[in-house]
Amino acid sequence: AQFKPKDQPLAGKKVVVSAGPTRERIDPVRFVTNFSSGKMGYAMAEAARDLGAEVVLVSGPVALKKPAGIRVVDVESAQDMLEAIEAEYDDANIVVKTAAVADYRPKNAATQKVKKKDGDTFMEMERTPDILATIGRKKTHQLLIGFAAETNDVETYAEGKLTRKNADYIVANDVTEVGAGFNADTNTVTLIGHGGYRARFEHMPKTDLAKRLFETILKRAEL
Ligand code: CTP
Ligand code: CA
Repeated sequence: AQFKPKDQPLAGKKVVVSAGPTRERIDPVRFVTNFSSGKMGYAMAEAARDLGAEVVLVSGPVALKKPAGIRVVDVESAQDMLEAIEAEYDDANIVVKTAAVADYRPKNAATQKVKKKDGDTFMEMERTPDILATIGRKKTHQLLIGFAAETNDVETYAEGKLTRKNADYIVANDVTEVGAGFNADTNTVTLIGHGGYRARFEHMPKTDLAKRLFETILKRAEL
């Protein structure tokens, strides 16, 4: 086995992190998105880098600075994000899906600005690809970590996603808690694994949480 300094447990490993929201176009001047800031995903990417990994950060549109020492692939839509992650997947050791992917997109994005009409109340939408489930089906050696922001029944929903998407862990957070979730600098989460595994991480900065999550996961399994 390759020599790894104690503080560089991810040396020689490739970690792919997705972060931020996706943007689904309605027309050239409008889109559908969500409140994701990208902070948790960027913290995960930086933690992986600090632990010695080669990191690829697939980032939706965010207002954050590009982190040093990390290859950033900018994407816009869920479809773009899927393609970017698939291109990095085969030799990845860990894939972390922190991104808040839009679940729906306008069915027919218009090439020209849509004009309002009296009586119009409806825009036809369709589902975006489920990126984590797609790469979960193709998993060979990769460790897959998903995130789930919930407002209720956090563990039940997260456990369902763990199984349905063939992930190894889901990091679940209750976005109704104070100082947790979208746009906050801190978070409170439960790490959920197979066989009823649970680890609770109390309210702490996202940067500290990211490092603790990797350390906890690496302690449980050699990559
Ligand atoms: N995810 C994904 N592609 C999607 C939707 C979600 O890869 N189209 C990933 C997210 O990046 C996250 C995990 O799946 O790691 C859970 O996302 P979440 O939105 O909580 O789950 P959904 O399956 O979309 O369920 P719902 O939003 O209905 O709770
Ligand atoms: Ca969703």
